[in-house]
Amino acid sequence: MKANSGRAQHVVRAAAPVSVPGPPFAIKRHARTAFAWAAVALLVVLMTGCRLDMHIQPKYKGLEPSSFFNDGRSERPVIPGTVARGQLRTDELYYTGKINGQVADVFPFPITQKDLERGRDRFNVYCAPCHDYTGSGKGMIVQRGFPPPPSYHIDRLMKAPVGHFFNVMTDGYGTMYSYAGRVSPRDRWCIAAYIRALQLSQNARTTDVPPQELTKLQGSAQ
Ligand code: HEC
Repeated sequence: MKANSGRAQHVVRAAAPVSVPGPPFAIKRHARTAFAWAAVALLVVLMTGCRLDMHIQPKYKGLEPSSFFNDGRSERPVIPGTVARGQLRTDELYYTGKINGQVADVFPFPITQKDLERGRDRFNVYCAPCHDYTGSGKGMIVQRGFPPPPSYHIDRLMKAPVGHFFNVMTDGYGTMYSYAGRVSPRDRWCIAAYIRALQLSQNARTTDVPPQELTKLQGSAQ
């Protein structure tokens, strides 16, 4: 054993100076360095990648069946009375359009120009197909045979409190179905504000126009 390894060492020492002087030696050194780095990389992968203790755990994926529960579902129904985070909805006006159970005629937040623009955008998507872009109730679906809604410009709806419009969108009304699933409460208020703007657009008087704008209008009429 000892003699063998001694001889091998001797052979290497004797051969090196003779056969590889100069550049080939440099190449060998590179190869050795590369090998060392590869070994380090492999070690890192082995040390980090193979820790399985907490990584493989028994679990159910969404809607996967289960033989553990009697009803065969892994998805458990929520306990009655559970309130999801952010769903408490204690703000009666904001979520129901009512104050102490009475339909309210106020908005739960100040309406800005941006809210009106948002209301117009949502109205044109969700309501105009039946109610028409002006609220006349003669939208395209009605022209194709759907039961016609009343115009927003009739006396009764002109006088209706704004909470009524919110409620119609939230709960549906007669043949009109609810939009609560598609339009968020905030957007419903924006639409209600825009309906008020539509009503004004069909019933405005010159006295509603600010004096500065009125002179502009009178100027352009001449
Ligand atoms: C698919 C057609 C359709 C769409 C879309 C629609 N509505 Fe209606 N809407 C109706 C019909 C039909 C009625 C009349 C219902 C009745 O009297 O039975 C109505 C009635 C109404 C009324 C009057 C309620 C009253 O007091 O008489 C309001 C306000 C209203 N809709 C608002 C909206 C708003 C806001 C949207 C959009 C979020 C909308 N509707 C989308 C068909 C539609």
